[in-house]
Parts: sequence; C-alpha cells; structure tokens
Amino acid sequence: MSDDLDAIRASTEAAVAAASDLRGLDAVRVGALGKSGTLTALLKGLGAVAPEERKARGAAVNAVKQAVERALEERRGALEAAALDARLLAERLDVSLPARPHPPAGAESGAIHPIARTVEELTAIFGAMGFTVAEGPDIESDWYNFNALNIPAHHPARQDQDTFYLPPAHGAGFETVLRTHTSPVQARTMLAGDPPIRVIVPGRTYRADHDATHSPMFHQVEGLVLDRQITLGHLKGCLIDFLRVFFNIADLPVRFRASYFPFTEPSMEVDIGWDRRTGELGRGSDWLEILGSGMVHPKVLANCGIDPQEWQGFAFGMGIERITMLKHGIPDLRPFYESDVRWLRHYGAPALAPFTLHDAG
Ligand code: DAH
Repeated sequence: MSDDLDAIRASTEAAVAAASDLRGLDAVRVGALGKSGTLTALLKGLGAVAPEERKARGAAVNAVKQAVERALEERRGALEAAALDARLLAERLDVSLPARPHPPAGAESGAIHPIARTVEELTAIFGAMGFTVAEGPDIESDWYNFNALNIPAHHPARQDQDTFYLPPAHGAGFETVLRTHTSPVQARTMLAGDPPIRVIVPGRTYRADHDATHSPMFHQVEGLVLDRQITLGHLKGCLIDFLRVFFNIADLPVRFRASYFPFTEPSMEVDIGWDRRTGELGRGSDWLEILGSGMVHPKVLANCGIDPQEWQGFAFGMGIERITMLKHGIPDLRPFYESDVRWLRHYGAPALAPFTLHDAG
C-alpha cells in the first residue's frame, strides 16, 4: 500500500517543482488536495481500511499530505518572489534620466497659455527695471475701484466702465464690484506701505461688454512708480523701453498723446507705429493705441495717505490680451477662453522653456 503513497508523493512533488507560475501551482494543489484530489481520495478511503492497519495507514497518508503542503507553500513563496522581481524590473524608473526639454509636438505636449506667457514676459521685463509684482482682489469695494482714484459717485467716468455691481448683501456695508481695472491695487499698495514704490499689477478685470474684441473678463497690467524726483521723462523712458523689448522691435515708434483719466494729471495715451493694412508693427504710417498713463493725480496720493508735496510719480495701465494679440498676430479675442487645444497648441509657448530677457534680444 505504501508504494502508491510514495508514487503519489513523488509525482505531486515533481509537479510542484515544475509549476512555472502561481496558476499552475494552484492546479497542482487542486489535483492533490482538492475535493477530488488524489490525496483527498486516499484520506476518504481510510474508512475502508481494515481497523488494525488504519492507524499506520492514516499516519502515512497524513505525512505525505503535510509534505505536499510544505512543498506547495515553499514553491508559492518562490514563485511570488520571482513575480515581484519581474514586476520591479518591468516598472523600473530611471530617475537619473534627464528631463525632456521640448515635448514633441503632439497630443501629449502641454503649452503655456498666451496670457500666462505675456504675464511672465511683463514680469521679467519690468522686473529687470526694479519693479515687483503686487496683487489685489477681483471683488473690490467701489471705494478702491473708484473713489480712491478720484472718481467720486456720480462722476461721469463711472459710466465709461460697464461695471458689474454685486448684490448689496455681498459687501460689508459698502458697495462691491468686480474690479473694472487693475488701478485699485495702486491705492491698496500706497495704503499698505510707504514710498518709494515700484510695482506692476497683472490681473483679471471685468466689464459688461462682449464681442470679437471685448470679453466680460479680461486682463490688465497696472504700473505704479512713486518717488521724490519722478518726472514725465521717467514715464516715457520706462514705457518706450518696455514696448520695444516686449515687441522685440528696437526702433518701434512710440507716441504720447494728451488724454484724460481722473487719476492722472497730465494723462497720456500711448500709441505704437504700425501698418494698419498688414498688421505689421513698427512699419507703416499708422498709429495704434496701446495703453493709458500719466502722472499720479495729487488727489489720489492724498486719498491714499501720501503727501503730494513730497512724493510724485507715474502710473500706467494696459490690456494684456491686446498686446498679446498684437505680438502674436492673433485675430480674435474669443478663443483665449475657449480651451480649444488646437488653438492652445498653436499659440501656446513651450512649457519647459521659460521666458528670459535673452529671448527679447
Ligand atoms: N485704468 C485705466 C483703464 O482701465 C487704464 C489706466 C490709464 C491705468 C491710466 C493707469 C493710468 O494707471 O495712469 O482704462
């Protein structure tokens, strides 16, 4: 009787050793120890064995069963370790590989949105002139948006800006608006610290206006420079330098034209030379308005707790979409906010090649 036991043990152990994966090993286990497995059948058959032989036979079958179980367990451990090794090898990450500097053009490659890119460029250019970046809230009190800037209630200039007023409940005892320009951050900056001040303020602005060249949400950049000896000459030099570097045209014609803003005196609109017919900048005999600027009105300084006898300076504000469209020849404003990946891929900047002043020539 023990011959068949030895044979079963030998063939089962051989099958265990030959199993090349966990599934195969499980099939061997079921073949020996499953419901109709070979060893299970022997155990079931013990009842039919003569009583005087039953004990020894039972012990022998059980010993084989335990040996087979041990072999199965060992093999399972070995196969699991091998499977883990194979997975670790297959999923290995070589962290020493260099980053890919320019993602291949294709569905997977990301790009920086032209607005974000222009903000990056503005920040680099004005940063090189000693400006820092200031920010303010999109939901603004009407005092900062208007009054502080010398635009009292009922001033006709409030009508120029198609303001979104928020429901009165939103504010804390004063009217709140979606800021119509980035200029309120001038007032916030002056109230928060003492001159000298040299900041730019890129940010979102809002007006109830919507067509091919106007969006209810758009972006502006504000500039404010205050010191003891700041003159109109500084304003002109700063803006001419900025425009020539930003548009990368060393001899870009720039024209300053008298204008009116409640918060500056004198006020000037700034034009650049272009060819209206071809859209080419720096050529032709046409002028294109780019931004507003002026010497900060003494009343604005006084409103913000700064002595106009001691400090003076200039401010400017320009539309970020506008200069971006001109620089890249983008004809329509609306796709800026439509998240069309084809447009983004076409006009976006490479994600891993940040702008530096070297790019500006
Ligand atoms: N806030 C003006 C606007 O939204 C732009 C502007 C003009 C800002 C002249 C200024 C400035 O700081 O001095 O149209």
